[in-house]
Amino acid sequence: MRAGANARRAAEQRSIAAAAGKSGGRETSYSRVVRPGELDVAHGAILYLDDITVSFDGFKALNALTLSISAGEMRCIIGPNGAGKTTMMDVITGKTRPDAGQAFFGSTIDLLRLRENEIASIGVGRKFQKPTVFEHLSVFENLELALKADRGVRASLFFRLSGEQLDRIGETLVLIHLKEHAQRAAGALSHGQKQWLEIGMLLIQNPRLLLLDEPVAGMTDEETERTAELFLSLEGSHSLVVVEHDMKFIHALTVGNPAKKVTVLHEGSVLAEGSLADVQANEKVVEVYLGR
Ligand SMILES: Nc1ncnc2c1ncn2[C@@H]1O[C@H](COP(=O)(O)OP(=O)(O)OP(=O)(O)O)[C@@H](O)[C@H]1O
Ligand SMILES: [Mg+2]
Repeated sequence: MRAGANARRAAEQRSIAAAAGKSGGRETSYSRVVRPGELDVAHGAILYLDDITVSFDGFKALNALTLSISAGEMRCIIGPNGAGKTTMMDVITGKTRPDAGQAFFGSTIDLLRLRENEIASIGVGRKFQKPTVFEHLSVFENLELALKADRGVRASLFFRLSGEQLDRIGETLVLIHLKEHAQRAAGALSHGQKQWLEIGMLLIQNPRLLLLDEPVAGMTDEETERTAELFLSLEGSHSLVVVEHDMKFIHALTVGNPAKKVTVLHEGSVLAEGSLADVQANEKVVEVYLGR
């Protein structure tokens, strides 16, 4: 039991360190040179995937996938199980190397040349489906850790939180609807609240691009609605790629701007792209996904 708990804690710590862009306390020269604020989005795109192919034993999980996300855009991505949505996020975050293709963050940063921790440190935040918060720590402490992790070496020199950092934690608590729960152990939160806490831990590191894989899976209807409000409030100041099967949620994210683009993935490629109404009316999309 104890060994299992320790292994789990070690894994948690590794994932936090990876998310914070540190590996064994070392920052790479690349991540020091390219700070998120300096990201070149002069051409409008914050993320550009070109002709990406990923094969697993000959099976193409991604098949010449080409996709461009504008700075400040919220892009919803839908598609059947096995379409390659998670694999796409694995490629963007450096977890999986494609067999072919190109992936750029801004117009100059070649993601395929960077390691996972470097990609996290230049402003790409990823939310996995399963919440991975520190269950034994309070909500506040989870945010504090995420904030300090972002500062790398400096955080270990200045142990105390500055007033500015306290404010930032306070703002994040409000944003993720956990202000009243700041002192509770994260493990005592509902599933939806844990998801929000993890989103808060990403946001506090101020990522430019947020990748969210099935963020409302397991949430109640009310939690789902509040999550939609949260994401909509981030749009513009952040770029978001949201993968979801919950069409009510996709509807909530797009209803205020009917022209907002939705991408449908199928068999590792883009099957359709357009407004939600467009893709819902697309016969191929109905056939492979929505009509089921
Ligand atoms: N490491 C791996 N080894 C072998 N096959 C894999 C691996 N990762 C993914 N696949 C396969 O690649 C395909 C795409 O998987 P992926 O997880 O990207 O789909 P998805 O669109 O995220 O599906 P879901 O909606 O079910 O989450 C699937 O057929 C999956 O079984
Ligand atoms: Mg998936």
